[in-house]
Amino acid sequence: MLAALREATAQRHAELDAGTPLAAAEVDLRAYHDHLRLLEQWLAPIQDWIGRFDDAPRLPAYLDAIREDLAHAAMAGMADAPRGGPAAAWPAQCGPAWRWGVCYVVEGSQLGGAVLYKRLAEKLAPHPLGYLRGAGSPGPRWQQFIAALREHVVGARDIAEACEGARHAFDSLIALNRARSAAGPLSQAGQ
Ligand code: HEM
Repeated sequence: MLAALREATAQRHAELDAGTPLAAAEVDLRAYHDHLRLLEQWLAPIQDWIGRFDDAPRLPAYLDAIREDLAHAAMAGMADAPRGGPAAAWPAQCGPAWRWGVCYVVEGSQLGGAVLYKRLAEKLAPHPLGYLRGAGSPGPRWQQFIAALREHVVGARDIAEACEGARHAFDSLIALNRARSAAGPLSQAGQ
């Protein structure tokens, strides 16, 4: 199942890996700020939507960690980068496996966070990069999530649905990121 999810999303992951604000060669606090805003814009509607289902996996408080990082004194006075358009709609009619696929992407993004934390912690100090650091190693949480995923997504039909949900989750983030890049830097947006 994990192989199917990876294959269904590998190309999308590669686009994000190369295209989010933290992918630039020279990364500064401004880039981290833009990265956080992008993820906030993506995650807030997902958390609202997933909270409406009794049988959906519970997501840890990633959004709180993003907002805490944005509120850090080192980011005081930073204006918002131009936002992308309205976030993608999240369907009311979808099966549990589809929702597990979405959560696979949200949880998986923490693995990338750990890599970025190692790369940037020293450079962006004294900002603590709490969102990227997470709870330390993301490994145990990821293993726990994957075990639960395997329990709930069973059989070819579920797997296909989970892949669809995962692609939708990636696509919504990619669309927000593309709209953000197309809006250009702050100076062009008159902010
Ligand atoms: C912010 C948007 C991102 C999302 C939504 C995302 C999503 C994911 C997902 C779903 C996985 C799980 C793959 C699997 O093992 O099945 C993953 C793994 C991973 N991601 Fe990302 N990712 C993002 C950004 C990044 C970035 C910017 C990097 C580069 C620093 C990165 C590096 C990694 C690494 C190293 C893994 C672990 C691969 C492995 O252990 O096989 N990710 N990511």
